[in-house]
Amino acid sequence: MSAQIKALVFDAYGTLFDVHSVIRLCDELWPGKGSALSQLWRAKQLEYSWQRSLMQRYEDFTRVTDAGLRYACKALGLPLDDARRARLMDAYLHLEPYPEVRDALERLAGRKLAILSNGSPAMLEPVVANAGLARTLDAVISVDGLRIYKPDPRVYALAVEKLGVPTGAIGFVSSNCWDALGAKSFGFRVFWCNRAAMPVDELGVAPDHELRSLAELPALIDAA
Ligand code: LAC
Repeated sequence: MSAQIKALVFDAYGTLFDVHSVIRLCDELWPGKGSALSQLWRAKQLEYSWQRSLMQRYEDFTRVTDAGLRYACKALGLPLDDARRARLMDAYLHLEPYPEVRDALERLAGRKLAILSNGSPAMLEPVVANAGLARTLDAVISVDGLRIYKPDPRVYALAVEKLGVPTGAIGFVSSNCWDALGAKSFGFRVFWCNRAAMPVDELGVAPDHELRSLAELPALIDAA
């Protein structure tokens, strides 16, 4: 079954890149608040992406990320001036890849490897380049041209179209359960990288495979 996988499509934030690698800078700016700020920032960023999709009021992910940061700082009582805001937004272009990512992608070479992300091209290109992942990826696909966010099925269809690989031959990899289930609902073979050992969301669909780290992925794909 796994031999039929011709392409692997990865979510970016939380799957390849650790969004919480901003905690260090958050803590430097507001000691002791780094973790709370990072958690709320990410939560609001995601909520705003879904709300904007439902409201048909798309704004690109840079603006959504900036709005999430502004809200989180207000809610936590952290004064955000322009200089701090610029540093925090810049940190998003330098997110650290999870430690196993480079090796896992190299071991998967030979198949088409791509990112499909809610990120705008202006966010994705630098974060991929800064992490040294550009040469291991065949495509970096952004939702931005569609002006709608995952988990809208049109986004997953975009990967099929851009890669020229049929839906059934695409393995989709995400650490975000909502994204993994969106991809499963669309029709991909889904690998949920459940880093935090959480239960699967109650949405009536389940991922095909569950792993704890991307280091497990090459063996899982190679297994007959
Ligand atoms: C992505 C985020 C939202 O699409 O995880 O990369």
